[in-house]
Amino acid sequence: MIYVNATGALEKLRTPCLVTSLERAKILVKHLGAETAFNQAISDFKDAVGHTLKINLDGSIARLVLVGGVDHCSASDYKNAATVMAKAVVGTPVAQTVIDMAAADVAGKSIAWKAYTVMHALSQASYQFETYKSKPAKAHTLKRVRLHAAAEDQRAIKAQLKLGNALDQGLSLTKDLGNEPPNVCNPTYLFSQAKKLAAYDKVTVSALDEKQMTAKGMGAFMAVSQGSDSPGKMIVIQYKGGKKGTSPVALVGKGITFDTGGISLKPPPGMDEMKFDMCGAAAVLGATLSAIEAQLPINLLTIVAAAENMPSGCATRPGDIVTSSSGQTIEILNTDAEGRLVLCDAITHAKTFNPKAIVDVATLTGACIVALGTHASGLFSNDDDLAAALLDAGTETGDRAWRMPIWDEYQTSLKSNFADMVNVGGRNAGSVTAACFLSRFAKDTPWAHLDVAGSAFNSGAAKGASGRPVPLLFQYLIDSAKA
Ligand code: BES
Ligand code: MN
Ligand code: ZN
Repeated sequence: MIYVNATGALEKLRTPCLVTSLERAKILVKHLGAETAFNQAISDFKDAVGHTLKINLDGSIARLVLVGGVDHCSASDYKNAATVMAKAVVGTPVAQTVIDMAAADVAGKSIAWKAYTVMHALSQASYQFETYKSKPAKAHTLKRVRLHAAAEDQRAIKAQLKLGNALDQGLSLTKDLGNEPPNVCNPTYLFSQAKKLAAYDKVTVSALDEKQMTAKGMGAFMAVSQGSDSPGKMIVIQYKGGKKGTSPVALVGKGITFDTGGISLKPPPGMDEMKFDMCGAAAVLGATLSAIEAQLPINLLTIVAAAENMPSGCATRPGDIVTSSSGQTIEILNTDAEGRLVLCDAITHAKTFNPKAIVDVATLTGACIVALGTHASGLFSNDDDLAAALLDAGTETGDRAWRMPIWDEYQTSLKSNFADMVNVGGRNAGSVTAACFLSRFAKDTPWAHLDVAGSAFNSGAAKGASGRPVPLLFQYLIDSAKA
């Protein structure tokens, strides 16, 4: 989707479609002299959130889409209305539309926020993934959205357009990577997609191969990767949009391109969904693309730990002890707790770049879904300021997270009789003990972990990557550019 601005008198517009509210439409049709047709059309319209109405006008404005319940509304009402509006507009056979940004007075929110919310909703609704259908569904016709606002709001709108367009690109990349089947999306594929970012100014992309990782002592990563015929990769992207020499923010993504569980094999039902076990990687890549597209003035380090977790003759056994690149030894009791193994070496690698903060993103535990369901990502952090910044970014964008504890008391469940730690706690607080494991590698660096097992993809009829937590991550990066 492409977002552009528009201004001037609404009634002078020439467009196949205009989106507005009931109150605004009433004034507009008076100017257009289309009151009779309009009044007939709205007789059954319910002016409440969740309702929309298409009205054909056959004039220079060919149709109206009325959005219910927004003339005076709350932020959450506006978000819901935007989602419903986006579905209605994307389903309309037009190539472009105008959205009247002056429609809707949202308590406590600026026109900039409204614009970003509308763009976010349209980007979500317009996404399609038809690559593998022999008869693809018809592509949506809508390509261009004009956000209409008064002259005095043009500056604010234009700044948001850049961010909205950047978010759109990042979301699409993240969803595409997540939805690719695991016979295509292996670690080498993730690297080839990451390398495309090197075409941008100020961006370099490289990867450690298995030989280099072995030489660096990344025994935890290798314990996961060694069972697969697809070689693992530690992908490193550097975007230097900020001041020279300032420490980067680091994003680290879990990129298990398929998680069978390894020798601790998962049961068959739903195992196909373990192609989504690289959604953390997909999200950090998407947020990185958004940051680059928006030309944020920040230094960003993005690391993707890409591997496949397979059972085979060379796979890790329960009971194996490995040494991580931090020097700490790990007794692997369950080969299905593989995410923390690849992440611990990725976090240690990130620390060699002296980052000011590390945020890792991972579909890490089923326990996180039990705790929080799909609405919130689990947030764990050793730094209150970092945690607050991430929570705020989630609230602002509607891509919410909820903080969970990593108190020392939980650490005791990682005690091993034979090594420095085991890789699984007990049955209780599984997402917490997973985060506790990671905290041992982040150590004193400000670090946060987002467990997105419940939020990064949808199951059931709507199965597919959700693009989360790209909106949260991108907002966090936008905010950190201002700080
Ligand atoms: N990738 C899974 C977690 C997961 C489960 C993500 C469901 C998305 C949906 C992870 O590698 C895993 O298998 N975790 C185990 C950990 C356990 C062995 C301690 C789990 O959650 O069961
Ligand atoms: Mn697993
Ligand atoms: Zn996994």
